[in-house]
Amino acid sequence: MDLFDYDAELRPHTAHLRAAARVGAGDRVLDIGCGTGQTTREAGRAAVDGSAVGVDISELMLEQARRISDEEGPSNVGFQLADAQVNPFPANAFDLCISRFGVMFFADPVAAFSNIARALRPGGRLAWLVWQGHDRNEWASMFSDVLASAIATPGRGPFSLADPVVTESMLTTAGFTEITFTDIDEPVYYGADSAAAYDNLLRLTGFTAFLADLAPPGAERARARLREILADHQTDDGVYFDSRAWLLTARRR
Ligand SMILES: C[S@@+](CC[C@H](N)C(=O)[O-])C[C@H]1O[C@@H](n2cnc3c(N)ncnc32)[C@H](O)[C@@H]1O
Repeated sequence: MDLFDYDAELRPHTAHLRAAARVGAGDRVLDIGCGTGQTTREAGRAAVDGSAVGVDISELMLEQARRISDEEGPSNVGFQLADAQVNPFPANAFDLCISRFGVMFFADPVAAFSNIARALRPGGRLAWLVWQGHDRNEWASMFSDVLASAIATPGRGPFSLADPVVTESMLTTAGFTEITFTDIDEPVYYGADSAAAYDNLLRLTGFTAFLADLAPPGAERARARLREILADHQTDDGVYFDSRAWLLTARRR
């Protein structure tokens, strides 16, 4: 099996985020919904005289983030179990807030964005990646197809910041200005071939749990459908699905 993780899936997206974040040598960086911390570590490496803190609500993710960071460094990163919507971050403590698809899940986005704004110093920046709409993300249609729309449940989810007008209004209310949205039209990668992509998806997503909950004929049909869709997306370079994201930047007033 090829080495695959969320970092491999999102390589081109990460390059866009890096370019927009422009982490400075002295920056104190906050990474929201940091997962296993790749973007936190990158920020830490760029902030040679500063630091980077990743927060996430998943202790499982954070354990992995800490383990990788203990092995690879850098030494100026830390990880904290925290719900970014309500966590009492120290005020004015950060110069930059980054997130790679970790800010779409807040029950109350304005409360969360306001809380993040307070953690940033006045003039501090944010650079976030968020997904555009479900219908613009082929990978999501694949999930929906296989999971019978499980991912497209109403409420706060991966596509909750897809509408720039709504998101801009929430960020403005939360205390941000100079808000920009850049269209990111890059594919997501799932593996070197359809067999690898199948294994990767079962390992990395909710598919395994979902399939385990299904009665045998349904589970078999879902597995077969997944194999079929992945085979349709196999190219000489691997298995790719179209995706559309917003690269969102703003500044705290
Ligand atoms: C799609 S993953 C992205 C992980 C990471 N940014 C990356 O690119 O590898 C979304 C992450 O956001 C975290 N998350 C969701 N709600 C959160 C909240 N209220 N506060 C902090 N993290 C949250 C999830 O636990 C998950 O790790």
